[in-house]
Amino acid sequence: MSATTSTPRRFQQGLNSLLQSRVAEVLGYPHGVDRYLEVFNPLWSVKEVRAKVENVQHLTADSVTLTLKPNSNWQGFVPGQFVQLTVSINGKLHTRCYSPANSLHREDGTIELTAKAHADGFVSRYLRDCVRVGDVVTLSQAGGEFALPEQRPERVLLISGGSGITPVMSMLRTLCDEGFKGEITFLHYANRAQDMIYAEEVADIAARFGNVTLLRAFADEQEGGELSGLFSSEHLFNSVPDFAQATTFLCGPPPMMAAVEKVWEEQGITDQLHKEQFTLATAAVDDSESAEGEVRFVRSEAQVTNDGKTLLEQAEAAGLNPQSGCRMGICYSCTCKKTAGKVRDLRTGVISSGDEEDIQLCVSVPVGTVALDI
Ligand code: FES
Repeated sequence: MSATTSTPRRFQQGLNSLLQSRVAEVLGYPHGVDRYLEVFNPLWSVKEVRAKVENVQHLTADSVTLTLKPNSNWQGFVPGQFVQLTVSINGKLHTRCYSPANSLHREDGTIELTAKAHADGFVSRYLRDCVRVGDVVTLSQAGGEFALPEQRPERVLLISGGSGITPVMSMLRTLCDEGFKGEITFLHYANRAQDMIYAEEVADIAARFGNVTLLRAFADEQEGGELSGLFSSEHLFNSVPDFAQATTFLCGPPPMMAAVEKVWEEQGITDQLHKEQFTLATAAVDDSESAEGEVRFVRSEAQVTNDGKTLLEQAEAAGLNPQSGCRMGICYSCTCKKTAGKVRDLRTGVISSGDEEDIQLCVSVPVGTVALDI
């Protein structure tokens, strides 16, 4: 490293050490050093990843693509992983998970997050309608097991549905930037051609790279794709006959993922299937258990009548703001201690014991009266 590049870095490291010191903590009490730093620059933070919005695009009518320039606290990501993005809406912090869609090798240091705005998607609608260039958002470090392995597989199959395209888009862009020589099949499902995020770029990649095969299927349209309708095993057997030899990365809505997983199970090759959900997949449960009892938030001295919704929703309805992120059980940021009562895990239908234990608020519904340490 040259003297000219190492000096600013050393200065930055020295400054970070100083700001993280006990002295800075005491001087910053009670608000913390960050509250003072952000008066000068909202991107400055001792530990937090803050990112400036550098570009806002609308690739489809119901999505938004944000180009974000993170501060020096950002430690990077592996294609496929997610980050938790936090925004302040009407003075309240809201966090959701999104997967960077950009190549690992993007040279300008920015990351790209794409959100599809659902009718009931409070944060995604805010991102689409209200976020502007120059805004600053907070990010977590990247996390998650769904990730392109460092040792690149020889044969890659990417399967996505709807906005599940974002993590596999990052994998596709990364592999192409690396000059990956193996075969890549990109199989994507959307309702209509106009709903497909990154449609133009994926088509362009398939045209430029001889080893990339693009297969699109649109559920509401017979025309426009190489395949049609919802996912079916025939799509694989007819169009990707060597799928059993591929390392497959899957991200999409729960019904599509379940259909894909079934094929891999039947073939006995589930170890070759890597998957990430982006909405909560719930298990079918016995309706005879109607909501009853109360939810007691012990530390906050609050209580609500159990309405059968998730504990995260019931806590928010009680005016509390417990930490949360993905709201579908993958980031663990909503984990808290249950001190009494039983809960059912929405994903599996399994009912917990009545003992004290850690639970995830976003995927747990109370079975009778429950007490939580929040
Ligand atoms: S909010 Fe991510 S696990 Fe609950």
